Amino acid sequence: MRILGISGSLRRDSYNTCLLRAAAMRLPPGAELELFTGLAAVPPFDEDVELGPAPDAVERLRSEIAAADAVLIATPEYNASVPGVLKNAIDWASRPFPDNVLRGRPVAVIGASTGLFGAVWAQAELRKVLRHTGASVLDEELPVPGAAWAFTDDGDLADPELGRRLEALLEELVAYCRGTWSGRASTWSASSSSDSTAAIRIPS
Ligand code: FNR
Repeated sequence: MRILGISGSLRRDSYNTCLLRAAAMRLPPGAELELFTGLAAVPPFDEDVELGPAPDAVERLRSEIAAADAVLIATPEYNASVPGVLKNAIDWASRPFPDNVLRGRPVAVIGASTGLFGAVWAQAELRKVLRHTGASVLDEELPVPGAAWAFTDDGDLADPELGRRLEALLEELVAYCRGTWSGRASTWSASSSSDSTAAIRIPS
């Protein structure tokens, strides 16, 4: 079970990248998380460029998403929304629409911010954008507020309750991919578009 972790921050000491590392420590057995390291190289989306061959960095983004069983995105919040670099990468990954690499792919969103609310607005907006691409998006989120104090020296979450919530979210993501998830159907949502390929895969 391979999970691709995408941090929406390019910052070297990013708390959101830390959050993905904490997630890697708390994965269920048999799952592994690989960090995507190519975000900074993804060029600004341009429909004219899209007419030609995909730029290398876009090809890499798409192929790493396509090779993953699931995607876990940790997003910072910039001005109450998703950072531009992350939204830009998702715009590239959403093309060609509707048959893109995100369609039907299980995706979970988590986020850390230095403020009091833990990037809740960015997480909500990111889930909306991802649903629009056709991804199967976990409704559960993980807001990590006060990020400057949220991590232990060895990189785990300092708050045990947040750690448990992260673990539960990861278990849900992995169970959904394995077809062993038996929770509420409404926990996962995909695009409301009438395209039938956007339907959510509900394990029996
Ligand atoms: C921020 N930050 C921020 N935080 C927040 O909770 N709500 C917000 O709207 C914003 N807006 C915002 C805009 C811009 C341009 C920057 C650079 C920062 C603070 C942000 O949460 C903080 O810088 C995080 O540490 C960024 O995440 P990484 O880089 O540590 O992963």
